[in-house]
Amino acid sequence: MSRLILVTGGAGYVGSHTTIELLAAGYEVVVVDSCVNCVAGEEGKLPPSLVRVQELAKKSLVGFYRVSLTDALALAGVFEKHRVDAVVHFAALKAVGESVEKPLEYYQSNVSGTLTLLQVMREAGVHRLVYSSSATVYGAPQYLPADEQHPTGAGLTNPYGKTKYFCEQVMQDLAASDKEWRLVSLRYFNPVGAHPSGRIGEDPLGPPNNLMPFVAQVAVGKREELSVFGNDYDTPDGTGVRDYVHVVDLAEGHVMALDKAFSKSFRGYASYNLGTGRGVSVLEMIEAFCRASGKPVPYRVVGRRAGDVASVVASCSLAEEQLGWRARRDLQEMCEDAWRWQKLHPNGFRSCQ
Ligand SMILES: NC(=O)c1ccc[n+]([C@@H]2O[C@H](COP(=O)([O-])OP(=O)(O)OC[C@H]3O[C@@H](n4cnc5c(N)ncnc54)[C@H](O)[C@@H]3O)[C@@H](O)[C@H]2O)c1
Repeated sequence: MSRLILVTGGAGYVGSHTTIELLAAGYEVVVVDSCVNCVAGEEGKLPPSLVRVQELAKKSLVGFYRVSLTDALALAGVFEKHRVDAVVHFAALKAVGESVEKPLEYYQSNVSGTLTLLQVMREAGVHRLVYSSSATVYGAPQYLPADEQHPTGAGLTNPYGKTKYFCEQVMQDLAASDKEWRLVSLRYFNPVGAHPSGRIGEDPLGPPNNLMPFVAQVAVGKREELSVFGNDYDTPDGTGVRDYVHVVDLAEGHVMALDKAFSKSFRGYASYNLGTGRGVSVLEMIEAFCRASGKPVPYRVVGRRAGDVASVVASCSLAEEQLGWRARRDLQEMCEDAWRWQKLHPNGFRSCQ
């Protein structure tokens, strides 16, 4: 019998792409999502992102529950109804700027939500989890490329980053307290791109927080121009350098992390970087996007943003050695796939209902 995976936040950007890969890998999937940051379906219907996930995977979900992780009773009900083998945990609020204005909401959703999930899992006897962490736990990197040995938690400047760091700490303590737990934390660098079909992609409900969806919205004419925050960094062209990773590569990384969580030899807690190991500057990204879309992306250089650092690039050799994972898609593919989604859906999933 196939294993059943509960995916929290499965209607969102990374969650929807990962759900396709999980279904393709032969897993059954139940999704829990409050729809706080995705387009919800009409009464009793799936969110449009998940309708398309089912179409693309040619397979149905076992269930969908519009439930917040902070609702322990409702969450426990899902575990009572389904015999879950493992959890892939995406659900979180993720806007760095907003987290500075609304710290309580971020700690509540991301930290309390994770604590509630882990408690409900323990009561249900489910001990395997793959967690969406972030390169943000490294703060301003002390050396590059940042590997998993790099110190975490120091100098974190916003509540969002702290929630990711705190949840990692909780999982480490939990794994040390009880040998049953198998917890894998994946530290994403900058997920971009979309499914190659152009049928699902990133659909921020508010203004985008990340560079690529912003660039895409300028290219499609939804926004006039892009602000480039600083061109006087110590980088080859003066603009910030980041490690961008295609969302489908990332999704595949979750399937491999689950293999690890199910392997007989693994117990405890482990964290892995998921990136490409290659730094791309803001100007390089704009150029690649113009090439992929054939559209101009007007931009204006403005002052640096508080808290931004010059470069963040991952060392991904641990994921390659221990999970057998390596990013395979390059910058051009990231831009082409993001553009296909954007061009076909200038208003995201709102136009799909
Ligand atoms: N996208 C990135 O740049 C990035 C980078 C590093 C880490 N991450 C992490 O990856 C995960 C997924 O990110 P994403 O880009 O897919 O975000 P997303 O907002 O598209 O998806 C998150 C989903 O979780 C749901 N959700 C949020 N809080 C919830 C709660 N309390 N209960 C139930 N559902 C809830 C939202 O409705 C949304 O559908 C997050 O944990 C995020 O912090 C994302």
